[in-house]
Amino acid sequence: METRGRSGSILHRFRSSGDAFHASLLITLLLGVWSAQALEVSVGKVPFVEAMNGSTVLLPCTYSSCIGIKNLYFNWQYNDNGTMQKLCEAVIPAEGIEPNVLILHDRVEFVGSSKRSNISILLKNITFEDEGQYICFARNPKEKNRNHSAIFTLFVVEELKEVDDTLTVIIMSVIGGVVGLIILIMILKSLILFLLRRGPEKNKECLVSSSGNDNTENGLSGSKTDNKATPKA
Ligand SMILES: *[C@@H]1O[C@H](CO)[C@@H](O)[C@H](O)[C@H]1NC(C)=O
Ligand SMILES: *[C@@H]1O[C@H](CO)[C@@H](O)[C@H](O)[C@H]1NC(C)=O
Ligand SMILES: *[C@@H]1O[C@H](CO)[C@@H](O)[C@H](O)[C@H]1NC(C)=O
Ligand SMILES: *[C@@H]1O[C@H](CO)[C@@H](O)[C@H](O)[C@H]1NC(C)=O
Ligand SMILES: *[C@@H]1O[C@H](CO)[C@@H](O)[C@H](O)[C@H]1NC(C)=O
Repeated sequence: METRGRSGSILHRFRSSGDAFHASLLITLLLGVWSAQALEVSVGKVPFVEAMNGSTVLLPCTYSSCIGIKNLYFNWQYNDNGTMQKLCEAVIPAEGIEPNVLILHDRVEFVGSSKRSNISILLKNITFEDEGQYICFARNPKEKNRNHSAIFTLFVVEELKEVDDTLTVIIMSVIGGVVGLIILIMILKSLILFLLRRGPEKNKECLVSSSGNDNTENGLSGSKTDNKATPKA
């Protein structure tokens, strides 16, 4: 009875103090739902790429929207030292309907698909001048034409050799270290096995060959017990 009363009062206290907590939780949940409804554009977890001149790069971009899309407008822009250069643009009429993409750059190809909410493009045969920021922009009229964008950065390098070299050095040193460790472990193992084997063998030899050694062993063990006994007493 007493414990019940106590736990009840504790619960009651918890509830009354939790009311504010619950209210704030509800507000954050509502805010979360509200913000989740908004369109999101993403260029992926790694928002940059390093590529060799002359190669073709994928500029990735995807969108997601909880309330769905209708006449979603998107474009890709290149930040050319502050001035925006439009590379392509299109309107996706509805989910799953492929857009009719207007290409404004001779080396750009649209490779996205509205079936996968993918609005990625390819930039072919890149030059050093292509280095910089690429902006994936999208606007969903369903949510008051709010603007959404994500930035993808392209670095153009002459050769990826430098990275490769350091990588191979790292890989080789790791492999070397592992091999060295294995060799060390094997040497240690055989050494330990050798010592372990030698130990009993010696004892056997002692036991078999001469009884004199056996006696000394007995004597030693006897003296050991003596030593142990003396501090006790
Ligand atoms: C990349 O640039 C270097 C230096 O300008 C040039 O020698 C090389 O041929 C270029 N490679 C390609 C594939 O365009
Ligand atoms: C970028 O713009 C600045 C001034 O706004 C100019 O000094 C610079 O030379 C420009 N760089 C290129 C690569 O055009
Ligand atoms: C988008 O489409 C391109 C081309 O099909 C593909 O390479 C890329 O992986 C896709 N990106 C995502 C996030 O699905
Ligand atoms: C790539 O660009 C270089 C110079 O910009 C040009 O000489 C070459 O023919 C191009 N290659 C392709 C496959 O477009
Ligand atoms: C959205 O972007 C357009 C340019 O594409 C601009 O004119 C408009 O002011 C922007 N709207 C907001 C709310 O930032």
